[in-house]
Amino acid sequence: MKKILVTGGAGFIGSEFVRQGVRKGYKITVVDKITYAGDLERLKDVKNKITLYRSDICNKAKIDMIFKKEKPGIIVHFAAETHVDRSIESSGAFIETNIKGTQILLDVSKKYKIDKFVHISTDEVYGDIKKGKFYEDSPLKASSPYAASKAAADLLIKSYIRTYNFPAIIVRPSNNYGPWQYPEKFIPLSILRLLEGKKIPVYGKGKNIREWLYVSDCAQAIWSITKRGKIGQVYNVGSSIEKRNIDVAKKLVTLLGKSQNYIKFVKDRPGHDFRYFLDTKKIKKELGWNPKINFDKGLRKTLTWCLEHRKWMLSKK
Ligand SMILES: NC(=O)c1ccc[n+]([C@@H]2O[C@H](COP(=O)([O-])OP(=O)(O)OC[C@H]3O[C@@H](n4cnc5c(N)ncnc54)[C@H](O)[C@@H]3O)[C@@H](O)[C@H]2O)c1
Repeated sequence: MKKILVTGGAGFIGSEFVRQGVRKGYKITVVDKITYAGDLERLKDVKNKITLYRSDICNKAKIDMIFKKEKPGIIVHFAAETHVDRSIESSGAFIETNIKGTQILLDVSKKYKIDKFVHISTDEVYGDIKKGKFYEDSPLKASSPYAASKAAADLLIKSYIRTYNFPAIIVRPSNNYGPWQYPEKFIPLSILRLLEGKKIPVYGKGKNIREWLYVSDCAQAIWSITKRGKIGQVYNVGSSIEKRNIDVAKKLVTLLGKSQNYIKFVKDRPGHDFRYFLDTKKIKKELGWNPKINFDKGLRKTLTWCLEHRKWMLSKK
């Protein structure tokens, strides 16, 4: 396979994708700004086998220079501002990186005539749904500034596919969890709070539902799409494992041997999406991908990893 350039490869999902790729023997170049969410620790086991550029995807001259030098054939674009709560506080960085940064990558990719551009979007672009599922052609109805910035990038990519015959694929994964996730997201934040002897904050009454996908399953799906996905297509990637936030919190408290008093309800997030759920027939049928890790196993693996990496977790407080 051609040389692969991964943006956001020092992030949570991107680094899992890079580690899997190195194990498969691919030649990978990582481009990452190393924001508060990026961390080269995640790549320590593979650092001698990859090429790394510390760069902002919004820096067009630098991105152009990297493409000129590395000549990647495939781009897998993870780099983004990713935390919904931060986007509600201030959306500027989300617009810059998730929209403007994507536009710069698209233009440079077009200039150098790359073979394939795999864009990592999110299930949040569809908004929420009380019953039923989102299909790849469901309308985009983003709720938060984060989701809106991701939806804008999706639309821009679709316009490039149609207008320039640009060779892109859009991937929409559901909520990921697992090792190395920055402890601002619900599961690692809850574990960190419990490790510190503090209570887990649960929004509203904890009835909001998420579809939980273990990070190695997500990265495997993205590898299948990178290798065999059809240009111009959108692929949902979900586990079909639905959990209410309160039930996840209760499970974590129990696994860590604490009482249920370690859960506290806090004021709901403004515009909080109630439920996401993805139809995943397309990726299963076309590419034969299936998630392997069930929720109990995934949560235990995550917890064990957090306990073994307590220092890293605490350093992110
Ligand atoms: N985590 C999830 O549950 C989830 C679910 C669906 C989709 N996604 C999408 O998957 C992708 C990866 O998510 P994640 O959870 O690994 O994110 P993350 O926040 O852990 O990592 C993002 C990475 O992007 C880098 N980055 C940010 N701005 C940059 C810029 N301007 N230039 C270069 N690098 C920059 C950061 O340094 C970091 O390494 C994102 O596009 C996100 O929208 C995530």
